[in-house]
Amino acid sequence: MDGLDGLKAKYLTAVAQAAHEAALEEVRLAALGKKGEISALMGSLGKMEPDARKAAGAAMNLLKDEIDAALRAKKAALGDAALDERLRSEWLDVTLPGRPRRMGTIHPVSQVMEELTAIFADMGFAVAEGPQVESDWYNFDALNIPPEHPARQEHDTFFMHRAEGDNRPPHVLRTHTSPVQIRAMTEQGAPIRVIAPGRVYRMDMDQTHTPMFHQVEGLAIDRDISMANLKWTLEEFCRAFFEVPSVELRFRASHFPFTEPSAEVDIRCSWDGGQLKIGQGDKWMEILGSGMVHPKVLRAAGVNPDEWQGFAFGMGIDRIAMLKYGIPDLRAFFESDLRWLRHYGFAALDMPNLPGGLSR
Ligand code: DAH
Repeated sequence: MDGLDGLKAKYLTAVAQAAHEAALEEVRLAALGKKGEISALMGSLGKMEPDARKAAGAAMNLLKDEIDAALRAKKAALGDAALDERLRSEWLDVTLPGRPRRMGTIHPVSQVMEELTAIFADMGFAVAEGPQVESDWYNFDALNIPPEHPARQEHDTFFMHRAEGDNRPPHVLRTHTSPVQIRAMTEQGAPIRVIAPGRVYRMDMDQTHTPMFHQVEGLAIDRDISMANLKWTLEEFCRAFFEVPSVELRFRASHFPFTEPSAEVDIRCSWDGGQLKIGQGDKWMEILGSGMVHPKVLRAAGVNPDEWQGFAFGMGIDRIAMLKYGIPDLRAFFESDLRWLRHYGFAALDMPNLPGGLSR
């Protein structure tokens, strides 16, 4: 049985020296694998005399069990060590600050829409929407612009195609956001307080005009709303929007078919050394059209003008974005130039709000 003691010493030493799980597996195969040394030895039992086989068999089984136990114990130890090593090498400091990654930016027009929505929401105005392909009734007739009215020509309208033989008036790309007034009042009735920011279209293109641009419509209807409420609302809006302590607005008598009386509104500003300042100076910049909603417009939307009255306004969003952020050329808004966007764009995750600040 000396041979067995020698084998035992050999394999127990090999088990003890195995430094990793692959080496241990080699030891297992060499000893207990199908072609391993111990297995071969056990195979030789068959040739022994019965008595000798009994004693040798018992000793070999014992040896096999001892080596097997040693292999298992070592395997568990190596497994723990491997796990410890992995935990040591793969740890992650979750308290490290993140590495900022470059994302897209918010377009100034989107930014300004978010800003003005936040301001008007604070004054109780909900956001209303309407389609960009509009029927001519909503875009014109309901707003007191009948078919032969000169204002139709002034709007440089894009007309949609009509099938041959279809003699109904064609739909149009809405030329202003004012049709949303009609839709909102028809759906919600009075009293109502909404703004409607969105895209509008006119056939016009130069440094200050693009065929698609953005407006925001405002509408407030109640029993006793007056021009004074309009003035306060617009002054509050401009002060908050331009983020200045005070603004001065000038109301100029004007004419729109859908308001009576009507006024265009200018804001006091200065142009010093190419630098525009809002709220001070000796220049005036027109920013919007407004007035008291015409009784015919109320009636077209199913609101009784003997009971309800209110104001409306329409403001160019691109224009006020240019004024606020010092952007000189309107056409750049729509050229998708990434360098321009990175220069004028806003951080993607900064949502404008009144307590946190609109633009910072
Ligand atoms: N819809 C007019 C335009 O596009 C702007 C406007 C003027 C809207 C007066 C109004 C308003 O609501 O009351 O030129």
